[in-house]
Amino acid sequence: MCGIVGYVGNRDPKFILYEGLKKLEYRGYDSAGIALLQEGEIRIKRCEGKLDQLKAALEDPHFYGTPLDETYVGIGHTRWATHGRPSEKNAHPHQAGSIALVHNGIIENYSELRQALEKKGHVLHSDTDSEVVAVCIFDFISQGHSLERSVFLAVQELLGSFSLGVISQKDPQTLIAVRNGTPLILGVGVQENFIASDVPALLPYTKNFIYLEDEEMVIVQKNRCVVKNFKGKEIQKQIKKINWTPEMIDKGGYQHYMLKEIHEQPQAIIQTIQDRVSKDRDTLYLKDLTLSENDLRKIRKIFLVACGTAYYASMEGKYLLEKMTKIPCEVDVASEFRYRDPLIGKEDLLIVTSQSGETADTLAALREAKKRGARTLAICNVKESSIDREADSTIYTYAGPEIGVASTKAFTAQLTVFNLLAIHIGLVLGRLPKEKAKVYIQDLVRLPITVEEVLKQEKEIQKIAQKFYRKKTFLYLGRGTSYPIALEGALKLKEISYMNAEGYAAGEMKHGPIALVDEDTPVIILAPKDEHYDKVISNLEEIKAREGIVIAIGCEGDTKLSKLSDYFISVPQRSENVMPILLTIPVQLIAYTIALKKGTDIDQPRNLAKSVTVE
Ligand code: M6R
Repeated sequence: MCGIVGYVGNRDPKFILYEGLKKLEYRGYDSAGIALLQEGEIRIKRCEGKLDQLKAALEDPHFYGTPLDETYVGIGHTRWATHGRPSEKNAHPHQAGSIALVHNGIIENYSELRQALEKKGHVLHSDTDSEVVAVCIFDFISQGHSLERSVFLAVQELLGSFSLGVISQKDPQTLIAVRNGTPLILGVGVQENFIASDVPALLPYTKNFIYLEDEEMVIVQKNRCVVKNFKGKEIQKQIKKINWTPEMIDKGGYQHYMLKEIHEQPQAIIQTIQDRVSKDRDTLYLKDLTLSENDLRKIRKIFLVACGTAYYASMEGKYLLEKMTKIPCEVDVASEFRYRDPLIGKEDLLIVTSQSGETADTLAALREAKKRGARTLAICNVKESSIDREADSTIYTYAGPEIGVASTKAFTAQLTVFNLLAIHIGLVLGRLPKEKAKVYIQDLVRLPITVEEVLKQEKEIQKIAQKFYRKKTFLYLGRGTSYPIALEGALKLKEISYMNAEGYAAGEMKHGPIALVDEDTPVIILAPKDEHYDKVISNLEEIKAREGIVIAIGCEGDTKLSKLSDYFISVPQRSENVMPILLTIPVQLIAYTIALKKGTDIDQPRNLAKSVTVE
């Protein structure tokens, strides 16, 4: 989704803004722009396409910021089109009279506002909902209001979600920022302050952040920031220190963030497990879980809600939680849950899973469940994100920043947390035998090394995968806990290679998908040695009988599977709980290899955004 960066301070912000936007590229965008104050006038550079194009425009020696009393201001934006196609005229910043504005979100009543403004004689130049906000603010300025008051009055008219950054020729040492429904943070520096949609944009400049809440606006100046709510009341905010470093968001020598993040999985799992396992590996410490044993006993049902890859992690969560805790679970995509009048109440627990902690539908689902009295728990990778702050408690996946749009290490870290959570609750409730728990915990502790072992096969997996980059359709099949991995494998391939890939429960084959199978269809079959093994082998035979190409992913030493399939990728055999994590690594590498061979934009695939902050 759109990325916002803003600056007030003692340096020319041109390249600070540009570098900030670079760090937000992962959010997905199709145009970009920057506005500065130069000799008291707003100057804007914007263009359709990637930031390289904007950079070329910024090289213009006549485009630079100039200070007033040693203070520069500027705003920058990457746009992910919602209203109006990607083009220069629709790119931000939008200028209206003496102000320039950047916006992330959707203004639901923009067409009514536009009509009213046009009636008053304002001329709008773009097809966007965002320009309407700029003109609305300028309309108040034209009536004699100050910049701060005009922004305040304008936001009262807006319906929908919006983060804004606004600068003005008439108030050249101030930046006004607004947060309502889409993320925006404040970076606090020395003689300079910043705004951004996400922390990575500002890491090179500060580690001190103020997290804005919805319905808050902030008057940002070089040496102070004043936060007010939408009623105009001043709010005292805490500055929070973050321990991420700029190196954590580099590519670290890899060709793509996705590949780096695939290789970071052992570390992500170590970080997610460490400090949560007792020395003798029979107890788990989930300090972040605030539910007491008594609370856990009272849970009637667990609802697991998320989007995309996090939804597939939640599907695994259901298998694990039901098996180990015997509490009934229901899984839902957030965009359905929030609107389906869910039968959730105070005796239920909602678990939302989200890498970013900002996904609009997941956040709305969380709010809906809270409204209905449910207890809430988040599994989240980003501290201080909206979901982290609003859930009753959060169990963090310590995967570190995930930049590639295609989620990899966050997914396996989520599966790790579901393992920890299910074992922990199972033990607390006495529904999981201690000896069994010990085996599961042992496998979790060994998991990073086991994942390393799978990663060592990267070359062989690549050799197999690259044979298929010209195929039209892929099928991914699995049963039981391998079914969500089939879905995840297909999603990964679709996202980054733009190829048609379908994930199915293998038992569903005969109910339709088998019609797709012919000698040109690669079928990736997940066949670990579990209770479904024989049935999956039967499905494999059915595919072979129709001349499909079978790429099987199964357990080391499985000669039967190896013989029956055209290509065989093996992973070490461990307890059934961690097998989904091991099977995930090959499907990630298959997707990556095929996309690389096709030459697609792997880290920022077309039309996709890393955190989907609008519904
Ligand atoms: O940040 P979240 O985990 O809430 O994001 C949810 C989905 O948007 C995300 O998993 C998406 O499906 C990924 N691009 C998948 O690779």
